[in-house]
Amino acid sequence: MIDGKKVLFSGMQATGNLTLGNYLGALKNWLTLSDEYECFYSVVDMHSITIRQNPAELRKRARNLLTLYIAAGLDPKKNCIYYQSHVSGHAELSWILSCFTYMGELNRMTQFKDKAAKHADNINAGLFTYPVLMAADILLYQADVVPVGVDQMQHLELTRNVAERFNNIYGDVFTVPEAYVGKVGAKIMSLQDPSRKMSKSDENPNASIYLMDDPDTIMRKFKRAVTDSEGCIRYSDAQPGIKNLLDIYCACTGKTPQEAEKEFDGKGYGELKPAVGEAVISVLKPLQEEVARLSGDKAYIDSIIKENAEKANYYASKTLRKVQKKVGFPEKIR
Ligand code: TRP
Repeated sequence: MIDGKKVLFSGMQATGNLTLGNYLGALKNWLTLSDEYECFYSVVDMHSITIRQNPAELRKRARNLLTLYIAAGLDPKKNCIYYQSHVSGHAELSWILSCFTYMGELNRMTQFKDKAAKHADNINAGLFTYPVLMAADILLYQADVVPVGVDQMQHLELTRNVAERFNNIYGDVFTVPEAYVGKVGAKIMSLQDPSRKMSKSDENPNASIYLMDDPDTIMRKFKRAVTDSEGCIRYSDAQPGIKNLLDIYCACTGKTPQEAEKEFDGKGYGELKPAVGEAVISVLKPLQEEVARLSGDKAYIDSIIKENAEKANYYASKTLRKVQKKVGFPEKIR
């Protein structure tokens, strides 16, 4: 609890370009959470180096991501948006927690197996202990809830186990976090295969709309979107491609599927596709303009980075001091 509010923590990697799916499915819904929760959104650059990165590129992407979150409307005075590497407590707690995590547990992590297979030439120890650092991220802020996708559930479960193990030995030190299951946002599917989620790691660039795509690109991708041969526009599971386009249209315009069906009644796909494209452009254009405006205001973004790192450090240090004492580290002489 911070000021009577439950704590929410989430981390984002600055690798890959965020998609319209990330925006409509997650980010947009986070805007309302800061009233109910004390929110920490970390750009987890320490996690990123488990895969080899180009340093200049990583730095740039991390800043862009941080800027994008603010541009999307997350108020940086209410939400602590900060770089993981600016708070040394993450690394310090991670070490301690690694002494309470079993090799066997880490060996079972499916994401490790996947990533190890994908990067066979660089299976480093950090890739293996990645979930411990993630546990440290969450426990450092005594988070109550963590909004995560299904792919991160196993890591969250590990976090809970490590927290409980630690608490069983030392008393109530950590809040045991829960997965956040709130109002789920629109689930946006691939434009090329509507049975799969729109993903930032899709190899086919036509499958995803990226948040920084320009209007021409957006239009082109929608015109190429996979539909079917039914020829009519109904919101139905029998027409997954059309349903996805209508979902996107509704998420961008605020209309209901019924209203959209009515609007396109008797019309063809040739009319639906550009209409969806326009609706998306009308959402992404102002977002892109805001990113550009904020990016130009270096002093402002720098001040946010500094203030929020201080805020994060304050809460992190509190937990860390408690933990260090519990495990028997000598007190610092001040
Ligand atoms: N591992 C997460 C991902 O790749 C990112 C992450 C790091 C995270 N630390 C976290 C997510 C803590 C939630 C909470 O998506």
